[in-house]
Amino acid sequence: MNMRLKTLKRHLFFCCSTHCNNQDAEGVMEAFKEELVKHGLHKEVKLNKTSCLGLCGNGVFVLVYPEGVWYYALTPEDVPQIVQEHFIDGDIVEEKVMMKLQA
Ligand code: FES
Repeated sequence: MNMRLKTLKRHLFFCCSTHCNNQDAEGVMEAFKEELVKHGLHKEVKLNKTSCLGLCGNGVFVLVYPEGVWYYALTPEDVPQIVQEHFIDGDIVEEKVMMKLQA
């Protein structure tokens, strides 16, 4: 197994299909990368691009595992709050959640 995978705590999926990418999905993904490095979390969180997640038209989406949280309508300015409150403090940022997967 890849040693880096053993340190993972979260996996983020960014829809980068045409519609979402027109809303700066790449910019939000870059903001996550920068914020994770800033807090020393970059080895614990894996980021991947996906194709359409089927919820087009609601801004930039990020699907966060293992919680199964779908953040929506994100801008790069939202990212520091999500990293601090969700990833560091353990509190999901409810006002930016569109839905959560059922456990
Ligand atoms: S294009 Fe992003 S959810 Fe459909």
